[in-house]
Amino acid sequence: MKHTFDAIIVGSGGAGLYAALEVSGQAKTAVLSKVYPVRSHTGAAQGGISAALGNVEEDEPRWHAFDTVKGGDYLVDQQAAHLMAEEAIQAVYDLENRGLPFNRTPEGRIDQRRFGGHTRNFGEAPVRRACYAADRTGHMILQTLYQQCIKNGVHFYDEYQVLDLVLEGKKCAGVVALELSTGEIHVFESKTVLFATGGFGRMFKITSNAYANTGDGPAICARRGIPLQDMEFFQFHPTGIKGLGILISEAVRGEGGILRNNQGEQFMARFAPTLLDLAPRDMVSRAIMMEIRAGAGIRGDRKIDDYVHLDATHLGKETLQSKLPDITDFCKTYLGIDPADSPIPVLPTAHYGMGGIPTDIHGRVMGDNRETVVEGLYAVGECACVSVHGANRLGTNSLLDLVVFGRRAGRHMADHVKHSDSTPVPDDATDFSRQWIARLTDKRKGPHGGRILEEMQTTMMENVGVYRNETDMARAVKQLETIREQYRRVRSQDQGTSFNTDLLELIELGNLADLAFITAVSALNRQESRGAHSREDYPERNDANWLKHTLAFLEGDRVRLDYRDVDVSIWAPKPRKY
Ligand code: FUM
Repeated sequence: MKHTFDAIIVGSGGAGLYAALEVSGQAKTAVLSKVYPVRSHTGAAQGGISAALGNVEEDEPRWHAFDTVKGGDYLVDQQAAHLMAEEAIQAVYDLENRGLPFNRTPEGRIDQRRFGGHTRNFGEAPVRRACYAADRTGHMILQTLYQQCIKNGVHFYDEYQVLDLVLEGKKCAGVVALELSTGEIHVFESKTVLFATGGFGRMFKITSNAYANTGDGPAICARRGIPLQDMEFFQFHPTGIKGLGILISEAVRGEGGILRNNQGEQFMARFAPTLLDLAPRDMVSRAIMMEIRAGAGIRGDRKIDDYVHLDATHLGKETLQSKLPDITDFCKTYLGIDPADSPIPVLPTAHYGMGGIPTDIHGRVMGDNRETVVEGLYAVGECACVSVHGANRLGTNSLLDLVVFGRRAGRHMADHVKHSDSTPVPDDATDFSRQWIARLTDKRKGPHGGRILEEMQTTMMENVGVYRNETDMARAVKQLETIREQYRRVRSQDQGTSFNTDLLELIELGNLADLAFITAVSALNRQESRGAHSREDYPERNDANWLKHTLAFLEGDRVRLDYRDVDVSIWAPKPRKY
């Protein structure tokens, strides 16, 4: 079946819904989502959205921009980060005006809390910059935007899995998608397409990411010749529930929680004397792993699954209940403990991909290292890389990125629609998708997808994790080559057409395997340590050779690497100290 729109948004998280909201007033708009929209992963973002409102303490957007650049270990494109920090203030007030129930100060202003790496006056001390709705900030953003989209007449195609992007030369013509309830293939012809498909943390075994975070947008773009940028930078959030990876918000430390080793010591005092537990995530995750390696984990056995404690007992039941209710519930449900009485066992968990589909500040996708725009194609949010997070994202800047760049992309799409003609989708547009599905469901015997997924996640976790080295990453690349080869023979055990979840999982596995391969190759190539990319064999940052963005082109069985300059037009790179 064929549908025609002016704007197709793929993904219904904060970025997709904000873009849909902006473009829908001016163009016929549809959102395709593989999940019911309010189940999107934005809903799992807990602690806050940053903006230098200065409601509780003095603050300025340029301090916010500087923290973002420094937190990203100077791989951030600085004008983009500056713009994000400037536009953050209006973005938060827009959300408030649209009905988002932020927590309030006693005077009735939006309340703000501390978060890692956010400081006043260029690093002097932590600042209260994160606007929040208890520990459900992402959930509230999602609900607010969804209501507004419904009001604006956005068409929703829920439970549609995107399969392919239709390009005519360097122009976007639409997308192909699978209707999960019927198995029917649909073509969406559109003047503009925006990918907002979220992250790809499911390539790791222990992750805070939802099952749906399988990198569908970036994988599709990579297969269609679009490079992926800075994929080697994957953030591990310091405080996942040990063994499960479920997120325990940084807001716990923002409210005063403390990480402790088996001596009860606040070990971050040794690693980041100024910011302590509120240092950027890459540093805190490494500090936890170093404590464990030194035998100071709670069990003290130096094993990778040892852990440290996140101590929130001194915060008191009242603060935990009013400001961190979901965290309190998670601890009760998954650990059987009350964080008011017992410390929480935590370990770093794969959380956020800094890399993705390269875009400019309007969300337009760039198809090469000369910033050539793919006409009509946009990407926003975690699947994209406008490069405001560089080598390591600061907490709360992700929700901000969604809102600021979702809005900008939506506006640009509306303008583009007015001034462009649609490109007809060719008759063979669905061939690739039909052949893919036919192969996966052709009833032949093949390797089991679940086992391949498990192998891939373990490989990534063990070899491309918090600490990396050449031997491990080279092993991962080889294993991922084998995994991609096995994927060509994999078959669905279910040949049905209605809600064939086995087929869906195999489609997602194909996307994850391509992205894991690109990530491992990009990581092996970068011979330095920067932000979340921490190499034991190259422990220093090397600006002389590596102050550049990686662009990875997937070319069949290999990845070709190229580079783009980093915009360092505001602050000269300096060593990071906290
Ligand atoms: O810790 C958190 O609440 C996560 C926030 C984020 O990733 O920005």
